[in-house]
Amino acid sequence: MKTLKIGILGLGTVGGGTYTILTKNKEIIEKRTGCDVQVARILDRFQKPDVPEYLYTEDPDDVLTSKDIDLVIETLGGIEPACSFMVQAMKHGKHVVTANKAAVAANYELLTKTAKENNVKFLYEASVGGGIPVLTAMQNALQGNNFLEVMGIVNGTTNYILTKMTEDGADYGEVLKDAQAKGFAEADPTADVEGIDVANKLSILIALAFDQYIPPTEIPTTGISAITKADIDAAAAEGCKLKLIAHATLNPDGTVKASVAPEKIANTHPLAGVSNEFNAVYITGDMVDEVMFYGKGAGALPTGSAIVGDIISVAKSL
Ligand code: HSE
Repeated sequence: MKTLKIGILGLGTVGGGTYTILTKNKEIIEKRTGCDVQVARILDRFQKPDVPEYLYTEDPDDVLTSKDIDLVIETLGGIEPACSFMVQAMKHGKHVVTANKAAVAANYELLTKTAKENNVKFLYEASVGGGIPVLTAMQNALQGNNFLEVMGIVNGTTNYILTKMTEDGADYGEVLKDAQAKGFAEADPTADVEGIDVANKLSILIALAFDQYIPPTEIPTTGISAITKADIDAAAAEGCKLKLIAHATLNPDGTVKASVAPEKIANTHPLAGVSNEFNAVYITGDMVDEVMFYGKGAGALPTGSAIVGDIISVAKSL
């Protein structure tokens, strides 16, 4: 049986969830791939219980350049050194799987070009919508469409905060702490509440839907930190819910109009029913019409599930 040796960069929430899935579901992964998928090395300073000590290293080269690693999982978060590490790994012939929306969105062209040049796979399903397989669907089952519009609730933390404020009249700060405790929020939750995380994800969705790269910094972005109970009540009076929406529309001239902002979504719209940490991406294609992908957009196991899906695709392609 073939062996696929994996190096994990960062065993935090998402890296840890990925390790758990690779361990717990080893048998089914082996059955589906015909491969023995082994975690061979982990770059992290802090060890987790139940993970053998001998797997750990503090030297990135033990993962990035080592001959016995076939695939690198990047779950460090942040743009650097994550991006440089991914580039280095690909230049050393390693496939790369990541959940890191900030690094992918900021360096989309460099990362996809490096993968092509080095004839390796670069997969990032987990970077948008956590466990929801929306990027894979856009590149496979939906690829016969011209995409016309993409709307998404793609940040679990802010959707959780808005839901609790709407349904329970909860206090913004308290719910944010709760979201952090549940592992949804970024290390610095400013990226969540100011919409930066959503802009990163929208940049990736736009690249796949419209074959155009718009850097996240060029997407007009407003977060939810200024939203008050009065705004939520005003939306409710109009039969709407306030949601932080990633929105991209194809203009008739072929350009793309993109924004991240709280929008009033009519209670009758499918996105209005997306609550708590759940995410959804609502896509309009010229042939399929409207489709919506829904599921858990954050957290160790849902995000790990998408990473493991990408690992399995690589293993199957070998
Ligand atoms: N902080 C992100 C969220 C994590 O709340 O959705 C998943 O990308």
